[in-house]
Amino acid sequence: MDGAFIKTQNLCFSYSEEEESVNVLKNVNIEITPGEFVALLGHNGSGKSTLAKHFNAMLLPSGGKVYVRNMDTEDESLKFAIRQQVGMVLQNPDNQIVATIVEEDVAFGPENLGIDPKEIRRRVDEALKTVDMYDYRTHAPHKLSGGQKQRVAIAGVIAMEPDCIVFDEPTAMLDPSGRREVMNTIEKLCRQKNIAVVLITHNMDEAARADRIVIMDNGEIIREGPPAEIFSDSAFMRGHNLDIPQASALAEELKKRGFYLGASVLSPEQCAEAIYKYWRCYGGNSEN
Ligand SMILES: Nc1ncnc2c1ncn2[C@@H]1O[C@H](COP(=O)(O)OP(=O)(O)O)[C@@H](O)[C@H]1O
Ligand SMILES: [Mg+2]
Repeated sequence: MDGAFIKTQNLCFSYSEEEESVNVLKNVNIEITPGEFVALLGHNGSGKSTLAKHFNAMLLPSGGKVYVRNMDTEDESLKFAIRQQVGMVLQNPDNQIVATIVEEDVAFGPENLGIDPKEIRRRVDEALKTVDMYDYRTHAPHKLSGGQKQRVAIAGVIAMEPDCIVFDEPTAMLDPSGRREVMNTIEKLCRQKNIAVVLITHNMDEAARADRIVIMDNGEIIREGPPAEIFSDSAFMRGHNLDIPQASALAEELKKRGFYLGASVLSPEQCAEAIYKYWRCYGGNSEN
């Protein structure tokens, strides 16, 4: 068909079969291409989790179509192939950990696929190394920090060797260091392992790290584009009660005072770099 990894066509969904029930998803058309990093934003109740569950056939459309690598998610015989290709990581790591030893937990998924034990061993070791938890392989998961637990949960998904992972608010329950660990892991999976990432988040600094932002409101996609474009339109974001990254907000305040840093200020590093360049050009003192 085409190069899209996941593709929805006029996807509609209602949790109830009754005719007058409201659609939670309304003609959603979205494509995820192989290896890309998409951040999915929107208020609570806008339909993000419902959409995400269609990406691995946990939910099936009430109307329209969802394809994963051209496989129709409504085809029951393809369900396992689809779930192997699209992994899911949720908010609470405690609900995702099933075993009492880290490496057994990571092995759980591939064991259920009926994979050869030697191959399982290789996958578990590799997955734990990827998330930097190999040294903890014989530890008890319940004694780990939130960020470590979430990384073990991610290793369990990687061990299935998916080509796409959907993360539904994976950092929402974590402290700042846990959040950083998990975000660095997510970015590594995408940039080094070429795994497509769909990240649902309320944290705009996290969203700014994506290739593309998709914004949902009331069951519809209302806007999409690169982070630099989306976050420089602060009027749009504010109009929909959405935040922008702190560095972008700072750049906007400076712009109001006639100090324009450019459109692509998304992180403290980019902000510092832009200010430094400006300062060197206009009145910078090279002595110190
Ligand atoms: N299992 C469910 N049964 C009935 N309604 C649901 C269920 N899950 C979510 N909803 C409703 O669907 C809408 C979208 O929810 P959800 O996809 O969870 O949004 P988000 O993830 O953006 O917060 C909300 O109105 C929510 O109340
Ligand atoms: Mg949700």
